[in-house]
Amino acid sequence: MTVQSHHDLIDLHPEPADMARLVREGMAQRPRQLPAWLLYDAEGSRLFEAICEQPEYGLTRTETALLEERAPELAAALGAGVLVEFGAGNARKVGPLLEALRPPAYVALDISANHLGPACRELQTRHPAVPVLGICCDYSQLQDLPEHPLLQGQRRLGFYPGSSIGNFSPEEARVLLVQLRQLLGPGARLLIGIDQPKAVTRLEAAYNDAAGVSAAFARNLLVRLNRDLAGSFNPEAFAYTAWWQPEHSRIAMALVSRQAQTVQLAGEAWSFAAGEPLITEYSVKYAPEAFLALAASAGWRGAGRWSDPAGDLSLHLLVMADS
Ligand code: AVJ
Repeated sequence: MTVQSHHDLIDLHPEPADMARLVREGMAQRPRQLPAWLLYDAEGSRLFEAICEQPEYGLTRTETALLEERAPELAAALGAGVLVEFGAGNARKVGPLLEALRPPAYVALDISANHLGPACRELQTRHPAVPVLGICCDYSQLQDLPEHPLLQGQRRLGFYPGSSIGNFSPEEARVLLVQLRQLLGPGARLLIGIDQPKAVTRLEAAYNDAAGVSAAFARNLLVRLNRDLAGSFNPEAFAYTAWWQPEHSRIAMALVSRQAQTVQLAGEAWSFAAGEPLITEYSVKYAPEAFLALAASAGWRGAGRWSDPAGDLSLHLLVMADS
C-alpha cells in the first residue's frame, strides 16, 4: 500500500500467473472469449474514454446528465454511508453525487492501476472534504473490502454506473449481485446504471463507431496480450465486428481471424480457422423489468428508478430484499 498526500491506494491487481491461467481458459472455450477487464490496460482505458466521446455512443453522456440532474434526489434515496464505486475508471461520473451526499469516504475500485492513481488524485483535489480510497482490483473477484480506517463502522453504499454489469452473462451477473450484497453488508444499497434494448441500428453503431475507436479498443487487447503474456498476435490479421444478438439481448464484440493462423500466447500455440471469432466482450441490455427480476434473484429489491427523457437507460436503486 502506498500512501500519497490525501488519498490512499491499495493494489490487489491479479498476478501475471492468474492472468495467464484465465487467458488459457478463455482460449480453450468455443467461441474463444477473454475476460473483459483485460481490455483495460493504460491504452485500453484511454481508448475507452475516447469511445465515450464518440457521437454514436450516447450511454456515458446520457447517464452523466441524469446523475447531474437528479443528484439531490439520488443522494436522499441513498442515505448515509461510505460510497463504493465499482469500475470507477476516470471517476468523473461521481462528482455530483459526492457533492449532494457528502459521504464519510469514497472508495474507487478499478482494474486499471495506471488510471486509478491519477483519477483519485484529481477527485481528491476537487472534493477535499471527502477522503478518497482507491483499490486496484478485479471487483468481480473481490469477496470483501480490505480493512481500512475509513471503512470502520460505516454503512456501505454501492455505485455501479455505466451498465458495466452488461459485460457479464445474466448468470454471472446474478452471482456478482449476490457478492456485491455481501461485500456491502448490512443495510446495503446499490445505485446501478442499466442500458436498455433499443433500435438495432443505434446499438450496433454505438459499438462500431465510424472513427474506428471501438475497433482500436478491441485490437489493443491483442497488443496487451503480446506484451504481458508473450503473445505473437498480428492485430491487423483480425477484423473487428459488433452485432446485436436478439436471442441474448446483447451486443457481441469480436475479433475475427482474417485467415487460418497460429499464434503463441501464455506459453502455448493456438490455431485460428479463417473466420473464427475471439469474443472480446458482450454487452447485455436489460429492460427495467428484466433487470429487476435478475436483481430479485440475487436478493435485491428495486426501491427507485430514474430514467433519461428518451428512456434509453435507467439508474436503479436496489435495497436488500428483506429490508
Ligand atoms: C464499460 C461494459 C459498459 O458495454 O457499453 C463500450 C464497454 N466496449 N464499447 C459497454 C464498451 C465497447 C461498455 N461497458
